[in-house]
Amino acid sequence: MRVMQVASAYWQSCALHAANRLDVFNLLDGQAKDLDTLTRETESDRRCLGALLSALVSMDFLDRDGDTFRNNDFSQTFLTQSSKFYQGGIVYMFENWYEAWGGLYNTVKTGTPSALMHQAYSDEETRNYMMGMHNRALSQSDVLTDMIDLSGKTQLMDVGCGPATFAVKFCEKYDGLKAVAMDREQNLEIAKEIVDQYGMQDRVELRAGDYNTDSLGSGNDAMLLSSMTNQESPENIKKLLRKCYESMNKDGVIMIQEQLLHADKKGPQLAALIGVNQIINTVGGSSYSTAEMEAMLREVGFVDIESRQMAPPSPFIMVTGYKR
Ligand SMILES: C[S@@+](CC[C@H](N)C(=O)[O-])C[C@H]1O[C@@H](n2cnc3c(N)ncnc32)[C@H](O)[C@@H]1O
Repeated sequence: MRVMQVASAYWQSCALHAANRLDVFNLLDGQAKDLDTLTRETESDRRCLGALLSALVSMDFLDRDGDTFRNNDFSQTFLTQSSKFYQGGIVYMFENWYEAWGGLYNTVKTGTPSALMHQAYSDEETRNYMMGMHNRALSQSDVLTDMIDLSGKTQLMDVGCGPATFAVKFCEKYDGLKAVAMDREQNLEIAKEIVDQYGMQDRVELRAGDYNTDSLGSGNDAMLLSSMTNQESPENIKKLLRKCYESMNKDGVIMIQEQLLHADKKGPQLAALIGVNQIINTVGGSSYSTAEMEAMLREVGFVDIESRQMAPPSPFIMVTGYKR
């Protein structure tokens, strides 16, 4: 049974991807509709849409009464755009990676990624990805800002900031804090919308750059590397950590918020599978263990290094270190 469940698990992913792309959950936002109405509104084939909706009911994403469908509490909360917990962007992001995962066998045989993350994204795909990251970060940001005390710190650098949500949230919590948030130029357009939305234009500076080749400046009291070390090779991570160290003030803290493997590399499963996603989508990426990350920090000169599991709903492990 377990063999069949795992071998066919992508059926469920594909059903969710298709429903999300067909806008089913938004069409059912706060109202029930019958199959004929949904067929018309999604411009779909009635027989095939009926099969898809039945699958979504069985997967506990929709409720049905005969041929009438409605969102349940879960899909209303996480899959409709009107909800502040909307996660539809994440669904698009995983759908974008689906084809590349089909090349896993070849990747493992040859060591060559079957796609390169971000490089061929359309504007719409970039927006979906960034908004997915933003909504995911919003639900996790309190856990991060409550865990690390940045009182008295004045300059935070968020490296590979994506939507810059964590930089915004840290600045919201600490009045005296300003942030520099760095990412590739094409992603900063959406980060700017988020910074503007929170009225943080004077506190969060968005800086276009490549963290592998560009300077990280100086005067940093805190560095955040969130969910981006796994996309790099150990050599690149060590170079980046060295640059972080050199850019930091004495007593500065580095925060690595990441999907890390436990020291024995037996799990967690999500971190292990993210390692597979990295071999498919990046040239040198992998998932690293807490022990490996701590060793890299130590090698560069950081001290008082500690790894801690973050509280739910954050799936991350936080590794901190200090420049003394
Ligand atoms: C998984 S996202 C994490 C975003 C954000 N730190 C968060 O946790 O929400 C990884 C980010 O790294 C950025 N990135 C990848 N390579 C980069 C590079 N060489 N220089 C700057 N940013 C890069 C990507 O554009 C993407 O926004």
